[in-house]
Amino acid sequence: PAVEYGLEAPYRIEYHDAIASTNARARELAKAGDADVVVLANEQTAGRGRLDRAWNAPSGGVYLSVVLRPEMAPMEAPLLTLAAAVATTRALREAGVDAGIKWPNDILLEFTGEKLVGILTEMEGEADRVSWVVCGIGVNANVDSEDLPQGATSVREQVGDIDRRAFVQRVIEEFDTLKGDPDAILDGWREHAITLGQRVRVETSRGAVVGEALDIESPGRLVIETDEGEVRVHAGDCEHLRPV
Ligand code: BTN
Repeated sequence: PAVEYGLEAPYRIEYHDAIASTNARARELAKAGDADVVVLANEQTAGRGRLDRAWNAPSGGVYLSVVLRPEMAPMEAPLLTLAAAVATTRALREAGVDAGIKWPNDILLEFTGEKLVGILTEMEGEADRVSWVVCGIGVNANVDSEDLPQGATSVREQVGDIDRRAFVQRVIEEFDTLKGDPDAILDGWREHAITLGQRVRVETSRGAVVGEALDIESPGRLVIETDEGEVRVHAGDCEHLRPV
């Protein structure tokens, strides 16, 4: 059952000690017409990742999903995912963690590339207007990295346990400030990006694109300098991004 969490936020907070998936719960609320709610959990028993993968969500993490009904077209929604990545990276850096963003929205430990945070955005609506967006953020916070998949690390492992209430408060505040300001989102993304300046390979539905990552453009396209000139890759087209 949900309990009060005691955060000062422009959202109603629904806190669960354990839940199957905060995104699944947020979708239920969204479909019932709710908006401006944050579903928060200490643990998920059936956390979901991108590409239908499971997301490991042991007790002690920060698992949250924001329900929004923004006035935007579905194709603009990736901006909200970038906003979530920027907000979470800022909160992590303030906590002393050397976090950076890998395009489009993985948050990694800068020097090792180990994963700290995953973000999953889901939405429903018409071609010109979304009816709702759920933006789910999973942070490996106060958890042992032995309880995480290979290639992942946790805040605990890097700097010790953090005050999750204060952390969530920062993430929500920052997300709320950014969410209506595409320029601020893109600038924040550039500021914290690990990907820019690197040689990358992106597997798209139309083949691989290889070159130097130059910049990000609204609503989340990566600009890559290839041997044939500049190519723009949509976040949705991306199956895989790695340094080459
Ligand atoms: C990824 O594959 O990297 C995205 C992982 C997203 C996990 C978060 S945890 C909170 C929210 N609820 C879920 O079931 N998934 C997202």
